[in-house]
Amino acid sequence: MASVRGPTPPSVVVVGGGVIGLTAALLLARRGYAVEVVARNLPGDSLDQAWASPWAGANWCPFGVDPRVCKWEAETLEQLRTLIPSGLAMPLPITRFASSEAGLHNHWYAGVADNYTRLGPESCPPGCVGVTFTSVSVNSPHYLEWLGAQCTALGVKLRRATLKALRDAVRPDTRAVINATGLGAGELEDVRDEFVEPIRGQIVVVRAPVKRCVMDATMNHPTRSTYIIPRPNSGGQVICGGCYEVGSTVREPDPAMTRSILEHCLARIPELSKDGTVEGIEIIRECVGFRPSRRGGPRLEREDKTFGGSRRVPVVHAYGIGPAGYQASWGMAGEAVKLVGDALIEGIVVEAPRAKL
Ligand code: LAC
Repeated sequence: MASVRGPTPPSVVVVGGGVIGLTAALLLARRGYAVEVVARNLPGDSLDQAWASPWAGANWCPFGVDPRVCKWEAETLEQLRTLIPSGLAMPLPITRFASSEAGLHNHWYAGVADNYTRLGPESCPPGCVGVTFTSVSVNSPHYLEWLGAQCTALGVKLRRATLKALRDAVRPDTRAVINATGLGAGELEDVRDEFVEPIRGQIVVVRAPVKRCVMDATMNHPTRSTYIIPRPNSGGQVICGGCYEVGSTVREPDPAMTRSILEHCLARIPELSKDGTVEGIEIIRECVGFRPSRRGGPRLEREDKTFGGSRRVPVVHAYGIGPAGYQASWGMAGEAVKLVGDALIEGIVVEAPRAKL
């Protein structure tokens, strides 16, 4: 692996401590950069609704056909598979249903996921289509802690701070910044990306002996879908969902939706309940999380910004991945790190010429 290790490795600040920021920090540290993560939330803060990462179902199941995202997802599946022997990732048989072929995204990952098989009509809800494949899931709060521990073992500093602007994280020796702030990119004074928007998700975490996943988008409802995602190493926790409410900021779970989520999930996986009824499902908690999305797709690009009056510093924006953060994390973070490397090779960090007096 290429390394920049030397007497004074370049300092890179990663703003944001979610799955994208931490993965980027880890990749930077592996390449020898001196890395600081500056974030309002850090691994361990698993129940802050303002932070998307701990709420994720965190299974690998692509949501679209954007070629950039597909590439990140294919790369990430390969990485996540390597974590199966440690127990950090769990092999997961998925059955996926959609109302039409479009909902199966051109089957682009047929050659990427193992055991990809199209289902016949007899195995699908009436008029619908489906596939099965073998995927993986991770336990999102544990996984964040693992990423954080890997980072600190390589000397990454994790600093908790609530920033008003990216410039507040930049030090005199900062050579590059990665902006992995998710929804925060809509609020930071020197970013204010107006395309950033939350997608509200309500889930119910239950305990049940379930080892398979169903992703069912056939509900004939504009914002609802049904999914059941077991979490590894969690004492039998299973995520039941859900909804995709674009722009909603309602923080409280809706009890009627909780009931409806459980009914729909139980209809697909009877083992969720001890006795076949909704009342027989052991609920651990109901939650609402906000997927860090962006109209038009994620932003992964470099912008050279002037901080402190005279210094131009490359900022690599890496946010807006919506519901696909874990499954795209290694690919997206890897591309962000490559852009940092390219920028430093170009020597873009220069003193801007002083204005003539
Ligand atoms: C979600 C799960 C699928 O975004 O991670 O609801």
